Order: sequence, then C-alpha cells, then structure tokens
Amino acid sequence: MPEKKEKFYLTTPIYYTNGLPHIGHTYTTVVADVIRRYKRMRGYEVVMTTGTDEHGVNVERAAKKAGVPESEYVARMADAWRSLWDELGLTADEFVRTTDLQHVRTVQWLFKLCRENGFVYKGHYTGQYCIYDNAFVNDAKPGDNCPDCGRPTETLTEENYFFKLSAFQKPLLDFYKKNPDFIQPESRRNEIISFVEGGLKDLSITRTTIRWGIPVPGEEPHVFYVWFDALTAYLSAVGGPDYEKRGMWPADLHLVGKDIIRFHTVYWPAFLMAAMLPLPKQVWAHGWFLMDATKMSKSKGNVVLPRPIVNMLGMDALRYFLLREVVFGQDGNFSYDALVTRYNSDLANGLGNLASRTAAMIEKNFAGKIPKPAEHKPQDDVLAKEAQAVIGEVLERYEKMEFARALEAIWAVIASVDKYLTTEQPWALGDSEADKQRKATVLWTSAEVLRMVTVLAHPVLPQSTDKVWALLGQTTSLGAFELDGLRWGQLAPGTSLGKSQSLFPRVDKVEAVERIESMANEELNPTQPAPAAATPAPASTPTAGAAAAAASVAAPERIGIEDFSKVEMRVGQVKTAERIVGADKLLKLTVDIGSEVRQICAGIAQFYEPESLIGRKVVVVTNLAPRKLRGVESNGMIVAASVGPEGRPVLAGFHEDVEVGARLK
Ligand code: MSP
Repeated sequence: MPEKKEKFYLTTPIYYTNGLPHIGHTYTTVVADVIRRYKRMRGYEVVMTTGTDEHGVNVERAAKKAGVPESEYVARMADAWRSLWDELGLTADEFVRTTDLQHVRTVQWLFKLCRENGFVYKGHYTGQYCIYDNAFVNDAKPGDNCPDCGRPTETLTEENYFFKLSAFQKPLLDFYKKNPDFIQPESRRNEIISFVEGGLKDLSITRTTIRWGIPVPGEEPHVFYVWFDALTAYLSAVGGPDYEKRGMWPADLHLVGKDIIRFHTVYWPAFLMAAMLPLPKQVWAHGWFLMDATKMSKSKGNVVLPRPIVNMLGMDALRYFLLREVVFGQDGNFSYDALVTRYNSDLANGLGNLASRTAAMIEKNFAGKIPKPAEHKPQDDVLAKEAQAVIGEVLERYEKMEFARALEAIWAVIASVDKYLTTEQPWALGDSEADKQRKATVLWTSAEVLRMVTVLAHPVLPQSTDKVWALLGQTTSLGAFELDGLRWGQLAPGTSLGKSQSLFPRVDKVEAVERIESMANEELNPTQPAPAAATPAPASTPTAGAAAAAASVAAPERIGIEDFSKVEMRVGQVKTAERIVGADKLLKLTVDIGSEVRQICAGIAQFYEPESLIGRKVVVVTNLAPRKLRGVESNGMIVAASVGPEGRPVLAGFHEDVEVGARLK
C-alpha cells in the first residue's frame, strides 16, 4: 500500500453524442468504476474521467435532423449521458464535454505547442473519408467502403494542417520498448508495434469541410480534427494547460475498446511527445460485447440497453455479469439468458443465500449477535486458510485486470463455505453446552468468510455488499475499507447484526427475460402509443422529446361520430391493485367491467397508491387489443387526464353513482 496517498488517474473514452449508451459503453464505464473503487480501497487518491465527444459532422447532421442548433443538441445529449450514468451509479469524478471552454483552450494550447516545436505544417489532402468514424481511410480508393463500419466512404480534398506523425515512428517504437506495459493486452501491443514499424504517414489534424468543431485560432475556417480534439479531453479534464497544479497528469490508465486503440497508442502519445508533455502510463483495450456474434449498433437494431436490465435485476447484477462472463480483453457474447442464469446461480443462490442463511441462523441462535467462536476443528482452519489465501489472489487478479478470475476466486470461497455449512449442519445441533459452542464456532466462521468475501467483492458489487456489510453490523464505510488491512479473524464477536434486507430475489428466467426485452422495446421505440393516458414517454431521450414537441404542434385531425363509436368505453370498478416488480411506473389492476373482470396495466404507480384504488370507479377502454407491458398482459386501458408539463395522470371518474359496465357515449 502506498505510504502517502499516491494518485491514480484513469479515463473512459469520451462517448459520441449522436446516440445514447448501450451495454458496450456501459461495459467500459463499469470497468473504470470497478478500478476506481478498487484503487481507492488500496489507498490511492483516484480521479476517474468520462465525458462526451461533441464535435464533428455526425453531430451537425443529427442536430439538423432534430431541428435544433448543434449547441442545444449536444447539451441535451450530454445531459442524457450524464444522467444515465448517475442513474446507474457510475458517476465519474470528472465529466468533460468537448464544448467546455476549458477543453477548447486546452486543444488550442496543445496545437500551439506542437506547432511551435515544428511538428505542424500546412498542406492539402485528398482521400476517402468515413463520416461515421470521422476518419480518412488509409489506402482506400473511391467507391471503397470503410473497413471498420462497412459503410461507403466519401472522397474529400481539403487544405489541412498536418501533424508530422512520420517523425515519431522511432520515438514511439523506443517508447513501447522502454515501457512494455504501455499497451495491454499483449496481443494488442504486438499489433500496434507492427503497425508503427510499417511506417507512419503524416496526419491531417484540421478540417475546413466541417463547421461544428473547435476553431484553429487565427486560421478560420479551420477546425480541429475530432480525434485531435477528443483525445485532448483527458488532459483538459485535469487542468489543461495548468495540469501541473492538479497533479493528476499523466494518466495512469486509459481504458478503451479495441476499436480505438490506434488513436490512443499511436496518435495520442505522438501529439504529447510533440508538445513535450508527459505520456500516459498505460492504455488497456478490452474486447467487444457482441450480439449474435456481431458488434452492436443502433443501425443493426441489435443494441442491448442497460436500463431495462437494471430495472429488473439491479445494477450489481449487470456489473457482475459483465465482469464475470468474459475474460477482460477478449470479445464476448451478450445474452439475456446467460445474464439471468448467472444472476440466479451466483448472486441469488450464491452470495445472497449465504448472507441470508448465516444471518438468520445467528438471529435465531444468538439473538442477532455475532457469536464468539470456541475451539477450532481442522475443518474450520481449512476454511480460514482458504479465505486468508484468497485475499492475495484476488488483489493480484484485480491488479492485472483479470476480473473474471478475481470473481471466480471469491465465488470459490462462497462455494466452500456453503459446503462447510452443509457438512457441519449447525441447524441440527442441539442446546447442550458443547453443541452451542460448536454452533458458535461454525456460525462465526461462516460470518467471517462472508465478511471477507463482502470486502473483496465490493469494487464489483458496491450496492449489495454495502447491504451485507450493514447486515453484519458493520458501521464503517465499506468503500473506505483498506484492502491491504484485510485479515482473517477481524469479525468482532458480540456485534449486533443489522436489519436484513433483500439482496438478490430469485427470478423466473423466462419471465425475467421477457420483461427485460419488453422494457428495452419500449425504450427503443418511445413513439409507441402510451399504455394508459397516464404513462408518460420515457424522459431524457431527445428523440422522445422531439417527437412529443412535434406532436404537440400538429393540429389534431377531426373524426366523425362513427370513428368515435368504434372506441368502447365502460365504467369499471377496481378490484385489486399491485405494483409490478421492475416497473416503477406501472400498476397491475384487475377491473370489473360488468361483463367480466379484466387485468389492466396502468402507468400511474408514481401518483396513486395501489390500496387507494380498490373499489374506485374508473373509465376503461374495453375494446383495445391486449398487449404486454413489462411482460405483463394488459387487456384494456384506464382513462386519465394528463396534467402539467410532466403529464401527471389524474383518473377520470364520476360525481354521481354509476353502474359498473355502463357504456360511455
Ligand atoms: N468518441 C470516441 C472516443 C474518443 S476518446 C478520446 C468514440 N466514442 S464511442 O461512443 O463510439 O465509444 C467507443 C467506446 O465505447 C469503445 O471504445 C468502447 O470502449 C465502447 N464500446 C462501444 N461498443 C462496444 C461494444 N459493443 N462492446 C464493448 N465496448 C464497446 O469512439
């Protein structure tokens, strides 16, 4: 452990604003968050940066399509990214936007340094350009598609400022040699070394064909090439030209997907060398999460969204799955089925079950206080040894970014304690003094293993381990626990257990997958009609906002009475009402409509308590085709007024008594 707090600065890529986060982006940010928590627990002062990459032709196009100025478009998108990260508990220490003034100044300053040092010149460039990846495609001919995204390239000629990348072939190769850990994993390192050995062409770093970018001072209409702009965000987030004051630069770790490794390990260090600034210590490129063996993309319609998963299973389940399922660095397939299987086996049956059964037995036998262990038997010592030994292994695995192995090691201890409980059978012991003492030893031992596992798993499962920590009666902050001080035997007998809380309730796989998929459908198609007048469209997606705005200005079409009479509305009476797990806006109701009792879902859960609705008379549209909401069948719609800007639902009703089943005309 470092003596005085050593600093650790890590970054995620800054994400493009022409879409919203899917599971791929979430993966990188989750990993960064895990490392951030892990390093803090090892005594480092950690800063983690994420942000949004807001310039370029794609944004120009998207803003135009949305009918708003670029600045407004990116502000909305940056907000949406930031709030989703907050919602997922992935709040970085710095969120940098490339439209921030501090960032703009840093980019201009970096350019000035490179130019003053003789590494920038003016020239012309003609080439095939991929507007989707914002990059000229080396060696492509007109008509060629982009090798990365497969879409057509465009021929572009422009006056540019060039960066003398060719001058950095040797310095880069020397740097890689001197710093063998700079590029990780090893396979990527070899790939980059051979790329650089193959020769480097100078790189155009300004554009005149793009308007929406950071201006090159005194050289308008030149704006900076998006990658010169974007990479600099890592530096502007921690002080820019004044980076020395903050003391965080150089970065200790840039986490990136394998798609952008070249930018980070060739261009970025070359820019910094040219400016004579310190170089980052490491770039780690992880693999992709694939869907049906192809890369996820909105255009392919195969994106997996984080929110529905989190609504159904909780954020820790998603974090666990992302890190446990795939060897960090390699590609992996995403499947809901595997996600839910892991959730049930490792979290509900594994950690969750160990915590609840241990606590329940201590509650029952020792009045909720951690018992004092008595004489040890060899099997107790074997378990103690195993738990003690796993500390070193787990720390080493985390350090090497072998997250799946770290979790495997932790879960092996969970399996051992489960086995230990099965053989020792503390529940079968009686009330004799000897039995009581044995029970105390077994339960203390199990609780101690649980405590150690909880500490070790905290970086990956922050929310649920906090709960187990409190359950074990610990009052200190688990996030501030020093991993290097973790030892067997620290669980103090006599500590009162905290309140038991639900950790990972088991779910039915088919139902869970169906619900996640249906929530994802709703989020991806926000323009679908709302299930009840009361269900607002998902907030914070600019597309939803724009659609709503467009709808509100369009004049309503008039219909004839024959159209109106197609809608059958009847008086209904609510019989039962309950919340739906994983759907915080929906209530599941059963409603008597005279001829039958119907199950109907209504998006009113945030405004009506289920109990207050029982017996209430409501207006029901009875001839709507049934549909599934969050996996629950809804056979009809409850009518409500939508009040105020947030669309608060107010149920339609009657002042006089009306008969159930009466038709509204
Ligand atoms: N704006 C650039 C990065 C500039 S950094 C100075 C960019 N943005 S991006 O929005 O396209 O995000 C790319 C990153 O998202 C990848 O490098 C990776 O970290 C993550 N992922 C996007 N899709 C992914 C998967 N399907 N799987 C795993 N990670 C993926 O590139």
